[in-house]
Amino acid sequence: MKAMVYRGPYKVRVEEKPMPKIEHPNDAIVRVSLAAICGSDLHLYHGLMTDLRIGHTFGHEFIGVVEEVGSSVRNLKRGDKVMVPFNIYCGSCFFCARGLYSNCHNVNANATAVGGIYGYSHTAGGYDGAQAEYVRVPFADVGPSVIPDWLADEDALMLTDAYSTGYFGAQLGDIVQGDTVVVFGAGPVGLAAAQSSWLMGAGRVLVVDHLDYRLEKARTMAHAETLNFVEYDDIVVELKKQTDYIGADVAIDAVGAEADGNLLQHITGSKLKLQGGSPIALNWAIDSVRKGGTVSVMGAYGPIFSAVKFGDAVNKGLTLRMNQAPVKRQWPRLFEHIQNGYIKPSDMITHRIPLEHIAEGYHMFSSKLDDCIKTVVVPNAA
Ligand SMILES: NC(=O)c1ccc[n+]([C@@H]2O[C@H](COP(=O)([O-])OP(=O)(O)OC[C@H]3O[C@@H](n4cnc5c(N)ncnc54)[C@H](O)[C@@H]3O)[C@@H](O)[C@H]2O)c1
Ligand SMILES: [Zn+2]
Ligand SMILES: [Zn+2]
Repeated sequence: MKAMVYRGPYKVRVEEKPMPKIEHPNDAIVRVSLAAICGSDLHLYHGLMTDLRIGHTFGHEFIGVVEEVGSSVRNLKRGDKVMVPFNIYCGSCFFCARGLYSNCHNVNANATAVGGIYGYSHTAGGYDGAQAEYVRVPFADVGPSVIPDWLADEDALMLTDAYSTGYFGAQLGDIVQGDTVVVFGAGPVGLAAAQSSWLMGAGRVLVVDHLDYRLEKARTMAHAETLNFVEYDDIVVELKKQTDYIGADVAIDAVGAEADGNLLQHITGSKLKLQGGSPIALNWAIDSVRKGGTVSVMGAYGPIFSAVKFGDAVNKGLTLRMNQAPVKRQWPRLFEHIQNGYIKPSDMITHRIPLEHIAEGYHMFSSKLDDCIKTVVVPNAA
């Protein structure tokens, strides 16, 4: 089969790989109909993830058709059209029993922190991802859901990560009626977080980025006020100014380890890898939220320390909340919001490419060319 393959930083290509096989009775093999490229894949593409091996196939957002099931699979059958959460999880360990699907203890030999994620290096379990014609889906009775008839394929695809993650980011903000929410990052996760904040009762939503075309999307899709941080000497001071010098009630970091906006942090975090990522957006979130406010972190960071302003967070009495999103938990409510016409997750999709063009797709997304926000990959176009 054809699959996207990592060949080193900034080098990906399509190669022939052996077809995935059923390795456990509860596995399924899924023929991928749509996959997407996530902002998290960029951290891999840029070579920032620990234990990322040559030959690994990325791709953790996908929908497809069940090709084969193992002997113990009861919930799926060949031919079912499924949406698959980006998390791989057993559904029954101590952590899964508490809804911490992204922290499952049974799917990753390094499971002291993250559980299993498709196509996200051996740090996240070493599972091959779905930017490929076929993918092995472990615990097939647990993660995947059959796509309901009324749900469009591209909306289902966005619920397997980006949209559900943004929604989870807003949930972790514990937004109460009338709250002012500031979202850092106008990528897919930030757009979804901004839109979801309204659904949770926000009175004001502000989105910060430095890419005007993405801020434009934040205005049209998420009806947010927007700020381009390069237009201000100090974005934190500006946010204070715009919130009666009190600060936002909730700040959401939808940027993560490769944040721009401070050269020193960017070089030590993203280039020299002396930190587990540049915490600029996170520090801006800590600084711009009000005393006693909540910072929700959806941005991804590496396992080593980052120079986070922790003392300020302590002295301000902040609540810091974060995790890889356990996306299937968000689906029932998001299904309702889609059916009620409140949201259309696929609105963020800007590009659709065949798998054969994956190298160009990564380059475009990484360099933010052609007003790219979200790219869908079609592996079985023929
Ligand atoms: N927690 C999870 O479960 C989860 C799931 C999906 C993605 N993520 C992470 O969320 C983050 C965002 O993902 P995405 O797909 O939206 O990525 P993306 O790369 O499309 O978007 C990131 C945006 O942040 C902007 N940005 C850079 N520096 C900034 C700064 N200092 N302040 C404000 N904006 C800044 C960029 O211009 C870009 O528009 C990534 O770190 C990704 O790894 C986490
Ligand atoms: Zn992702
Ligand atoms: Zn588990």
